[in-house]
Amino acid sequence: KLPDGMANLADFEAPAQARVDAAAWAYLNGGAADEITLRANRAAWDAIQLQPRVLRDLAGGHTRVTLLGRELRHPVLLAPIAYQRLFHADGELAVAHAAAAQEAGLILSAQASLEMEAIAAPMLADPAAGPLWFQLYWRDDRDFMRALLRRVEAAGFQALVLTVDAPVHGARDRERRAGFHLPQHIRAVNLGGVKKPLNLQPGQSALFDGLMPRAATWAEIDWLRAESPLPLLLKGVTHPDDAREALARGVTGFIVSNHGGRALDTLPPTAVLLPPLRAALGPDVPLLVDGGIRRGTDVLKAMALGANAVLLGRPYVHALAASGALGVAHALRLLRDELEIAMALSGCKTLSNAGPALLWPGSFSSP
Ligand code: FNR
Repeated sequence: KLPDGMANLADFEAPAQARVDAAAWAYLNGGAADEITLRANRAAWDAIQLQPRVLRDLAGGHTRVTLLGRELRHPVLLAPIAYQRLFHADGELAVAHAAAAQEAGLILSAQASLEMEAIAAPMLADPAAGPLWFQLYWRDDRDFMRALLRRVEAAGFQALVLTVDAPVHGARDRERRAGFHLPQHIRAVNLGGVKKPLNLQPGQSALFDGLMPRAATWAEIDWLRAESPLPLLLKGVTHPDDAREALARGVTGFIVSNHGGRALDTLPPTAVLLPPLRAALGPDVPLLVDGGIRRGTDVLKAMALGANAVLLGRPYVHALAASGALGVAHALRLLRDELEIAMALSGCKTLSNAGPALLWPGSFSSP
């Protein structure tokens, strides 16, 4: 059942917190270290001011966008978030039903807590559903990766998203203080197989001698491009030179992200990272953004700064914890309504018209 009085995404936080144990709550909402980037993501969208135009003819306006050659009803996708059964018994499955019902896209985490085929089904059954993509973390075992890719392709996922900003865990103080551990019964069920043990000598660094030699490099991007016919997007590229390099190696698109402030603290907010990446890539490369998107006005600002679509992270998990599929669907409906209101009140008929002219000069950083 939906709690009374849910008027915006933030309203789901209190009912969610009442249902989630304190350690899992810290895992969900925490960021890295001092959480400077976590806070900056929100603050940056808030600080950008809109510059509306009035008395325009907006008849026939809509929120449709084109992404990877497909027309979507609106530009919101759900970000990959691990282990959603921590927050509701139906986990990722409830989220997929809600995404399909609200015509949103879904990016399934490699660390999903339910089988990928089951989650794909409601999205694929609904022709109005948004895109269905699979997020990967690199694992240094090509046979394992090859088998995973074949399974993802067979399950009907339409693109791959390789997350490149978290080859190791961020220093997540809030989570460690709360003593978060994954319960026995919740696992990354799509990542069977055994990870190779680290085998460190005394004095060696777990990161530099253990994990980093196994992390993806540009060679693994080439391998992925050759190995799978699916479009490949990179999530977590922030430097324009890295974006150019990726493009030269055949990468399809990018998700501008600082991992919701959970990986490296003191990165700039994504509203600041986005414009230089758009400038470096030109107008036609698919570019999405996430981090701190909470309002329809945030979505509109992201589009005005050059994004083709946005990802919503923690708020949909709050809605999931508060009331399952119904909560997530309601949260998505609220965000869509807010986007329509923001467009109507700023004189923006379609999102292809959204550009820097919608933003108050000096309230955002241009490249
Ligand atoms: C994440 N994120 C993430 N990203 C990814 O590529 N793979 C993953 O498995 C996860 N898991 C994950 C778990 C939790 C609990 C959170 C909060 C986040 C990052 C996520 O996709 C996204 O980049 C941010 O959450 C977006 O920021 P907001 O909307 O949460 O501020």
